Amino acid sequence: MSVLSGKKILLGITGGIAAYKTAGLVRLLIKAGAEVQVIMTPASHQFVTPYTLSTLAKRPVYTEFFHAEEGGTWNNHVELALWADVMLVAPATANVLAKMANGLCDNLLLAVYMSAKCPVYIAPAMDLDMYVHPSTAKNLTTLTSYNHVIIPAEEGELASGLIGRGRMAEPETIVSTLEASFTQDLPLQGKKVLITAGPTYEPIDPVRFIGNHSSGKMGYDIAKEVAKQGGEVVLVSGPTNQKIEDAHVEVVHVLSALDMYEACHRYFDQVDVVVAAAAVADYRPKEIATQKIKKNAEEFTITMDKNPDILASLGAIKKHQYLVGFALETENEVEHAKQKITKKKLDLIVLNSLNDTGAGFGKPTNKVTFIDAAFTVEPMDLKSKEEVAQDIVNKIIQHYE
Ligand code: C5P
Repeated sequence: MSVLSGKKILLGITGGIAAYKTAGLVRLLIKAGAEVQVIMTPASHQFVTPYTLSTLAKRPVYTEFFHAEEGGTWNNHVELALWADVMLVAPATANVLAKMANGLCDNLLLAVYMSAKCPVYIAPAMDLDMYVHPSTAKNLTTLTSYNHVIIPAEEGELASGLIGRGRMAEPETIVSTLEASFTQDLPLQGKKVLITAGPTYEPIDPVRFIGNHSSGKMGYDIAKEVAKQGGEVVLVSGPTNQKIEDAHVEVVHVLSALDMYEACHRYFDQVDVVVAAAAVADYRPKEIATQKIKKNAEEFTITMDKNPDILASLGAIKKHQYLVGFALETENEVEHAKQKITKKKLDLIVLNSLNDTGAGFGKPTNKVTFIDAAFTVEPMDLKSKEEVAQDIVNKIIQHYE
């Protein structure tokens, strides 16, 4: 599977003859499993039609700020920019290079570019004389200084009949440049991370179970962030509504704590890091009825057995693995968390305090405190769960630095 699988790519198309090649480019990107959002300048419509590109990209193509056909919606340039993992401008004409280098944004594509925080790739294409003009060279130097990657134009016969540099790089070259960008120099390259997420369901009979309200969001966000930083993920997930599609994340679906225990031990030898974000049930019904239990008696008692502590069982056999656990405490939080580090042989614990507003179960935000094996306590601010996931993954990265 291509590293571009699941990646969100904003493709900006500007008005040069090479725009006709973008149909092939979009096909290659879609074939690689990427999501492609095309934004065109008005001039590029002369060279390739939006209908061709929206058909190939399987989503509407945007050109204007205002979208009359779609009930008068506003194409929000900031949202489009935030959506993308990478922005690619291909072909980039001399005019657009000049505008990008100088901060002009008189169309949707340029406004999206100005709002983009993701890596930007630019494939220039123009006639020979424009390519060798000092202002183009100056603009390319400026754009390089903004940390953008220029995919150089190639030499060959140009549409004008001139021969020289100016042809847009071939779609295959552009795709392999993007692929390389997603595999290069990422801090968790070569590391495999086992993550548990979500609740466990402990069966009572064929239709009933004891569960909990864990959404799984924290574990899934960590999985996404690890993959983004170049790591391979085995995500052992209890039942949740969360979704993840990434070539670098293998999802192993489980139901009960015993299933989760078995899956974690199956993968443990292969992994470098474990992050236990699952809300594992502490107890399970001693007996699982083979038939649906009838409501006869006025009282009904379930006898429960203790579940194994998955994380502690991994701590007991760990060799080189870096172990991260979570703790949710209501009193003597730091003390209890420290005890858990020792008992489960953890390298890092992420302490969630229920005493903080905005933190905890079912909330979009979390306020955590990190405590490491040396008992260094590091309280963090209230943040979104995505940002907490980034902080946790940064801790893992720091361990390998
Ligand atoms: O002991 P406590 O349940 O507070 O510990 C929480 C940490 O241990 C979490 O990281 C959780 O995923 C993990 N855990 C586990 N197996 C259990 C219980 C908790 O892996 N049976």
